[in-house]
Amino acid sequence: MQIFGVDIGGSGIKGAPVDLEKGVLVEKRFKVLTPHPATPTLVADGVKEVVGHFGWTGPIGVTFPGVVTDGSTIRTAANVDKSWIDKDARSLFSDRLGGLPVIVLNDADAAGVAEMQFGAGRGRQGTVMVLTLGTGIGSALFVNGVLVPNTELGHLELNGHDAEKYAATSAKEDHGLTWREWADRLQTYLTHVEMLFSPELFVIGGGISRESEKFLPLITNLKAEVVPAQLRNNAGIVGAAMRAAMQG
Ligand code: BGC
Repeated sequence: MQIFGVDIGGSGIKGAPVDLEKGVLVEKRFKVLTPHPATPTLVADGVKEVVGHFGWTGPIGVTFPGVVTDGSTIRTAANVDKSWIDKDARSLFSDRLGGLPVIVLNDADAAGVAEMQFGAGRGRQGTVMVLTLGTGIGSALFVNGVLVPNTELGHLELNGHDAEKYAATSAKEDHGLTWREWADRLQTYLTHVEMLFSPELFVIGGGISRESEKFLPLITNLKAEVVPAQLRNNAGIVGAAMRAAMQG
């Protein structure tokens, strides 16, 4: 079965049809730049362009970088336009797409679902924490394979700061940190998350996971196993499609 997945990120809106048996993209993904400001109307235009590129007319799963309840309602918008808050995103996208069925979920939850089924978390029981590092930090918590949605651990307070401002990829870029300096920050963050949840496994995703050999070996002070994500930047697209399929 194939379902379409769309991943709304800080820099791009990307999507592709997904083969749900294999967890892979059926066609090369198509990407448009995330509009600035990333208002609901402009983002919906971007989603329409991505879906329209493939002439897709079936169900669609869409990720959003904030808290999403009931597969639709946006509750927070840390790195996108604040006018998203309380929007019924499912109706917004569905209307813009001529009535196609849409489900919306948090971006890190989508990435986590995909990693647990097809990637680095496959077959793993116990407590698994999938973290996506990018503009912000996204978190997806799994207990025996079941997702606890919207955990938002990027916004834990760390040394008086929002943790993602201190340890996300954007912090490395904004402050010109070396790999070692940034890895030290990441270590501090992961130690804090470990203190709270004692996961057996951390899966580290987001674009930077492509370069995991530059920073994961520098993270040495954790009890949990730490591994890079395997689906890399396609995890959100795959997870969104998986979730749309579950809605039937
Ligand atoms: C948002 C999360 C999101 C993460 C990664 C955070 O700022 O609050 O919902 O998962 O960024 O995009």
